[in-house]
Amino acid sequence: MRVLVTGGAGYIGSHTVLQLLRERHEVLVYDNFSNSAPESLRRVKQLANADVALREGDIRDGAALGASFAEFQPEIVVHFAGLKAVGESTEKPLDYYSQNVSGSLELLRLMTQHGCKRIVFSSSATVYGDAHYLPIDESHVLQPTNPYGRTKHFIEEIIRDWSASVPGSCAVLLRYFNPVGADASGRIGEDPMGIPNNLFPYIAQVAVGRRPHLNIFGADYDTRDGTGERDYIHVEDLARAHFAAITYAAKSHGCEAINIGTGKSATVLEMVKAFEAASGRKIPYQIVDRRAGDVARMVADAGKAEALLGWKARLTIADMAATTWNWQINNPDGY
Ligand SMILES: NC(=O)c1ccc[n+]([C@@H]2O[C@H](COP(=O)([O-])OP(=O)(O)OC[C@H]3O[C@@H](n4cnc5c(N)ncnc54)[C@H](O)[C@@H]3O)[C@@H](O)[C@H]2O)c1
Repeated sequence: MRVLVTGGAGYIGSHTVLQLLRERHEVLVYDNFSNSAPESLRRVKQLANADVALREGDIRDGAALGASFAEFQPEIVVHFAGLKAVGESTEKPLDYYSQNVSGSLELLRLMTQHGCKRIVFSSSATVYGDAHYLPIDESHVLQPTNPYGRTKHFIEEIIRDWSASVPGSCAVLLRYFNPVGADASGRIGEDPMGIPNNLFPYIAQVAVGRRPHLNIFGADYDTRDGTGERDYIHVEDLARAHFAAITYAAKSHGCEAINIGTGKSATVLEMVKAFEAASGRKIPYQIVDRRAGDVARMVADAGKAEALLGWKARLTIADMAATTWNWQINNPDGY
């Protein structure tokens, strides 16, 4: 299929584009490079030995995005573009509403205008807010606790209404849990700008000597070892989930929200140990106060993904640690 990928130069986007090229899809990436570099796609092309069309622009720029629609005539959109830092979203909520919500509105408007009826959207487990039960399934109440999560929730609702209004359309809302890891080649991976917001890139930068130690936010949670427990999902499994969602959307109608996780959880200390084993290096850490808004445990019920998409996570915590380390040691300063 012809797949337009917004934000395709970013962390999850680049791994997904690689997967789509390997599955012989035709891809156009539309990205403003606000949190990525074209180098990721240069490497993706090398790895896949295939070409990707690339257009630079903001998703809110209707003229530029419309030109890509007119030129490429996509049959489906995979929509990654947006801002994603929870903390930053509480400081700059209007930026988040503008880029994430207004950007998605512009995208849907152009999809309608150009007769494109299928979309796979990057949502997040943050739409659930605090878990009322675990593992969390898709019918859990949606009560996000920060502006970032609310943008994802609002976009989900907007896509649902759009889909209901467009006969023959199909929308898949993928609610990712905690994406980590890198492609096995070590050529592409997560390259955060500034101080990493997420655990694994932070650990990797400590291991490689870019940061002195890891801060662990709270060791008095009601979990196996007191540190927070999360459902980590390998980015390669996540890329396969997008391929499965595209295949599903090609032959289905309606709008479905689907959790993408492993159904298993690991604590921060378990992730540190896995990383020490993979890298052969000691990760110095210190326990500091809990961070506002963090919950003790979060784990997905991933049954719907298996039932509807035929997708299931395959890779382990050890794979996540080994591939992250392979990426970091080969690219100590990122791209
Ligand atoms: N990484 C995670 O932990 C995680 C978890 C859940 C959901 N998500 C969602 O998945 C998507 C991809 O995440 P990622 O980790 O790959 O992030 P990323 O920042 O690496 O990728 C996002 C890409 O979108 C581009 N972009 C941002 N705003 C844009 C705009 N206005 N116009 C055009 N391009 C724009 C960036 O330059 C970047 O290449 C995001 O929507 C994010 O909210 C990520």
